[in-house]
Amino acid sequence: MERIKLAIEKAKASRPDLLLPDSRSSHHGDAGMSAELDSPEREEDTPDDLGAVQYAQTAVVSLDPAHLERHRVVAHQKAHPASWAFDVLRTQVLQKMDESGWRTLAITSPSVESGKTVVAINLAISIAQQTNRTALLVDFDLRRPSVARSLGLNRPKSLNDFLDGHANLAEALVNPGLERFVVLPTNQPVSGASELLSSAKVGKLIKDLRERYSDRIVIFDLPPVLAADDVMSVLPRVDCVLMVVGSGVSTQTEVEEAMSRLSKANLMGVVLNKDESPTQNAYY
Ligand SMILES: Nc1ncnc2c1ncn2[C@@H]1O[C@H](COP(=O)(O)OP(=O)(O)OP(=O)(O)O)[C@@H](O)[C@H]1O
Ligand SMILES: [Mg+2]
Repeated sequence: MERIKLAIEKAKASRPDLLLPDSRSSHHGDAGMSAELDSPEREEDTPDDLGAVQYAQTAVVSLDPAHLERHRVVAHQKAHPASWAFDVLRTQVLQKMDESGWRTLAITSPSVESGKTVVAINLAISIAQQTNRTALLVDFDLRRPSVARSLGLNRPKSLNDFLDGHANLAEALVNPGLERFVVLPTNQPVSGASELLSSAKVGKLIKDLRERYSDRIVIFDLPPVLAADDVMSVLPRVDCVLMVVGSGVSTQTEVEEAMSRLSKANLMGVVLNKDESPTQNAYY
């Protein structure tokens, strides 16, 4: 544990621009568009208050609260003792993104099972709770997609169908019953993920998703940076990146190697997840 913190501190010293050196999202008692853009997802924008957005094209589905909680999706429950951590993270992330004019955020980690998907979903929900924002979460972990599973989504069309040319974007998007929150799920693992992520089609998709609405933050759930070159393929196409380090998951060397691979990206910070050290919140 201490070694991970030291590795983060070391990386922080070499990257003084880092915003979130050790923001904790540790929670739970157990551990601490373009051609496809011709039909609008919502009828109109009301810049100051998007609370009344109508999902004219996007399918709306209801999620199972118990399923969400089991998968650690809690940011929509204000009374949940872990949701504060995501609100703090949201505020820090949005301040930095606004300052820099950034609207697309990639989430990665050094190793698998660090909590990227949990952080990506909860952060997107927390952002969508601000009435002047919308959040779009895209499952770009094309090797081990898990956003749909974590949310309990079972959609007939997904990013797979869009990439195959069998669906337009509006058919693949879904609003999981939370206002201002839209998801682009990936239902199946994709072969040739890195090449696909480097393709002109994905480049155009990212650009279109970013440019469509000025109030929208787009979050991309990515694979681990050390697992393959997928992250390196996407990074030049997104504004900034957030790294999730799972306490006890990655070694010090892995954290340092991951940091060095992100050296050319706008690394916003590091979320230390699954940290069991005491925090100010008595619940944890
Ligand atoms: N703070 C936490 N405390 C305890 N368990 C957690 C925490 N965050 C995530 N987990 C659990 O760790 C596991 C991995 O989480 P998640 O799927 O979000 O990681 P990931 O980095 O996206 O994994 P992958 O590399 O497979 O995509 C899940 O079982 C999740 O519920
Ligand atoms: Mg994941």
